Amino acid sequence: MSGNNAKKSYLVPEEELLKQKEFTCLAKEIISAKFGGRTPLAMVHTYGCQGNVSDGERIQGLLESIGYGFTDDVNKADLVLYNTCAIREHAEDRIYGNVGALKNVKKNNPDLIIALCGCMMQQEHVCERIRKSYPFVNLVFGTHVIHKIPELLYTVLRSGKRVFSSEDCDGVIAENLPVHRDGNIKGWLPIMYGCNNFCSYCVVPYVRGRERSRQPEEIIKEAKELIANGCKDITLLGQNVNSYGKNLDIDINFAKLLEMINALPGDFIIRFMTSHPKDCTEELLDTMARCEKVAKHFHLPFQSGNNRVLKEMNRGYTREKYMSLVDYARKVMPDISLTSDIIVGFPGETYEEFKDTLSLIEYTKFTSLYTFIFSPRKGTKAEKMPDPVSREEKGKWFKELCDLQESIAGKRTALMKGKTYRVLCEGYAREGVLNGRTGGNVMIEFPDTVEGRIIGEFCDVLVTEPLTWIVRGELVK
Ligand code: SAH
Ligand code: SF4
Ligand code: F3S
Repeated sequence: MSGNNAKKSYLVPEEELLKQKEFTCLAKEIISAKFGGRTPLAMVHTYGCQGNVSDGERIQGLLESIGYGFTDDVNKADLVLYNTCAIREHAEDRIYGNVGALKNVKKNNPDLIIALCGCMMQQEHVCERIRKSYPFVNLVFGTHVIHKIPELLYTVLRSGKRVFSSEDCDGVIAENLPVHRDGNIKGWLPIMYGCNNFCSYCVVPYVRGRERSRQPEEIIKEAKELIANGCKDITLLGQNVNSYGKNLDIDINFAKLLEMINALPGDFIIRFMTSHPKDCTEELLDTMARCEKVAKHFHLPFQSGNNRVLKEMNRGYTREKYMSLVDYARKVMPDISLTSDIIVGFPGETYEEFKDTLSLIEYTKFTSLYTFIFSPRKGTKAEKMPDPVSREEKGKWFKELCDLQESIAGKRTALMKGKTYRVLCEGYAREGVLNGRTGGNVMIEFPDTVEGRIIGEFCDVLVTEPLTWIVRGELVK
């Protein structure tokens, strides 16, 4: 970094990455002695958001470079690694349950290495619980040390001792890690990590560190690799992609980045998530409208339709601002498909206030919604707010919201009947039936009249039978 105003660099230094390469060699030696030439198998399971899935692909890349192959069968695994999510209590409970179940697997295979990583493991109270109540877990590491997997695993293999590595920091960016992707038609491409927004209910800023953007050259390089490997659907990832570039020293923002990726040669579509309404600009919407490769789908979480609740959530926008963004998006892209995230029963929310969420849903007419009942998260501001409404009552509100969205979604898909959509054929929904998504992110199923020859290709599909959440159709060409 140069200049007096140079911003903080989050890059993991080259020497550290070289050191990890040495550990990769050392771990490889131990493994080949231990398994006598057989390829040991790892079962990696990722929970949570696409950002975590993308981390999982890098974790698998590192394990592969150490010499592991992969399996989905826990009974065949030599290493089980759960990449966890802490977003809601339910997510954490499920993971504790699944980790508990590994105790018996380990009884049958005492050499099994059990490792836990991801957002849950970035919380002190979770590490303590694992330390005390899950003694059969060998390795625990947080979100900021993924690049150190070779060293961590080497230490476990060599010493046989338990290793915990979850220290807190602002976060890092580790470039040039190997990546093992599960398929090549669709690709996740992280453009930034962390979050600075501290929405009062959310654990992400605590477990993912500060917002930091990758250099555009690194992103373009990875996009080119994806395209060269046959990827036709690239999703750019970040907790708030609309603030991309803010920590970089160069003149760039998300709209400019989109434009750069759109200009890459090749037939592919670009998606992105997540956009935060407070940082969404008309420039971005104009860019989306202009860039022919950018899917006309906009995931724009609003969380609540009531201004008092939005303020308590620390979201930084109003209902009116959200509506004006929707209006502008529809003005420049009449066919835009909108989706959103919503929290029902934020502490102190009244039924009257909840009705403002319903009316915003009626106004916007979303294609689909991801709806969650508020879940208190340790260390967040909302955890301490008085929460007088019962879970049962919140459940009723939740149902009311789902019913409303179901009727809207049904009406929206009905409008698709008789129209033809360009779809990337992703594979089989079931025997004899192929599927793919429209640019607007609606799933289309259609009979396989071409013996699967179009899997991984774009094709035109005529919608014949709209259902509520998906549609059925037939291949046009
Ligand atoms: N960065 C994204 C959201 C990431 S988390 C954004 O700001 O839009 C995905 C969704 O989980 C959030 O949009 C929110 O709706 C939900 N969520 C997060 N914390 C939650 C909590 N404590 N209880 C219930 N839902 C929560
Ligand atoms: Fe959480 Fe808010 Fe950051 Fe999204 S923007 S990850 S909801 S703190
Ligand atoms: Fe979960 Fe962490 Fe993503 S908490 S939603 S996996 S950033």
